Amino acid sequence: MERQEKKTPNIVLVGFMGTGKTSIGRRLSTQLRMRYVDTDDVIERDSQRRISDIFSKDGEPAFRELESEAVRQVSKLDNHIISTGGGVVLKETNMVELRRNGIIFCLTATAEEIYQRVRHQSHRPLLQTPDALTKIRSMLEERHPYYAKADYMVETTGRSFGEVMAYIKRVFAKSVRDSK
Ligand code: S3P
Repeated sequence: MERQEKKTPNIVLVGFMGTGKTSIGRRLSTQLRMRYVDTDDVIERDSQRRISDIFSKDGEPAFRELESEAVRQVSKLDNHIISTGGGVVLKETNMVELRRNGIIFCLTATAEEIYQRVRHQSHRPLLQTPDALTKIRSMLEERHPYYAKADYMVETTGRSFGEVMAYIKRVFAKSVRDSK
């Protein structure tokens, strides 16, 4: 029987808003020569609408449907860096899809650090509130059990992009080696 070439898995980045999924993902993509895709970009491209517009006009449940559709699409890829929106972990089916051909890394940071990183940004509907730090704290607590389902947790507070990437690259290379 012919030996089947195994597909190269995806590196999947999950984690709360502002934990660095996009920044780390884009850099990893360049360094590892793997293509980069972001579920939020897929949603905006396919619907031809901004995320904030979908949230304000159709509501969060409608956004989550589009997000699951984007997850189904990107989970079929291989050899990609897949960055996801912060709430992707909330649906178990999203995690099942992403894990099919992916190793899931959850980027983490403290609430204070996240607040410092996002306070001057305005594109995240869920953080458009006068007391964003309190909101971040309560959402982090609520979502913790979901983020904990990732294969690896990666703390980013006090770490440089280089350090975070070195860890992800090491773990990823080992899992690819072990699966051969
Ligand atoms: C969300 C995170 C956002 C985006 C949407 C909802 C969330 O993505 O998907 O605003 O529920 O945490 P980022 O994590 O890339 O900001």
